[in-house]
Amino acid sequence: MPDLRVRELSVEYGSGGEVIRPLDGFEMSAPPGSLVLLLGPSGSGKTTLLSCLAAIQSPSAGTIDFGDIAVSTLAGKERTAFRRHTVGIVFQAFNLVPSLTAAENVMAPLLAAGVGWAGASARAASLLERVSLGHRATHRPGELSGGQQQRVAIARALVHDPPLILADEPTAHLDHTQVEGVLGLLAGLMDGERVMVIATHDDRVLALGGQRVDLGRRTAR
Ligand SMILES: Nc1ncnc2c1ncn2[C@@H]1O[C@H](COP(=O)(O)OP(=O)(O)O)[C@@H](O)[C@H]1O
Ligand SMILES: [Mg+2]
Repeated sequence: MPDLRVRELSVEYGSGGEVIRPLDGFEMSAPPGSLVLLLGPSGSGKTTLLSCLAAIQSPSAGTIDFGDIAVSTLAGKERTAFRRHTVGIVFQAFNLVPSLTAAENVMAPLLAAGVGWAGASARAASLLERVSLGHRATHRPGELSGGQQQRVAIARALVHDPPLILADEPTAHLDHTQVEGVLGLLAGLMDGERVMVIATHDDRVLALGGQRVDLGRRTAR
């Protein structure tokens, strides 16, 4: 039963002799099957925290554990395996490859992990169905709406059925009509023991419920 535990986490950025510390002794924990909403204004450290949770970035101090994985000290192959198989990330700006079709974007992480073309193709087709985009599989990102692009990105984040899902302001670039579909999809991912952490300063996301952690105030509530 993987739970997420963050202890005494600090991140320092040095820029021109000045030190910025967006996270300073930060603590958080999330039981299996739970949702955390990371709140706080721009610059409060939401993206920094998600990058640490995803093992994209190493903290300056403190520990992150997901189940029995010591995320903050992962290195080499184990770090690659964690990022590939354990965590799924949904970015604010979708981060789809513009020259690839929706299906190819979803297939990409599977092919990178050594899955064969036929298997990757079948998996992508079923995930695009799951996000209601089966009929757009051969479209490129430029031919899709923002909401559709974000749904492709969610499908891509799900390819390895990761037990940890991180989303960085997933509704920031979506208009009113697109937000509902994306929120419904995110709500649908809250199954089983999966832990989901969503950074947002969009009040519409609060409807998902979950534990709120306000980085602007530095207190969990
Ligand atoms: N790579 C970096 N180098 C220096 N400062 C950074 C870097 N990334 C973020 N910061 C600073 O850290 C603070 C937190 O940024 P960020 O985590 O992006 O916050 P948020 O996602 O809540 O807007 C900001 O002051 C930002 O300018
Ligand atoms: Mg951010």
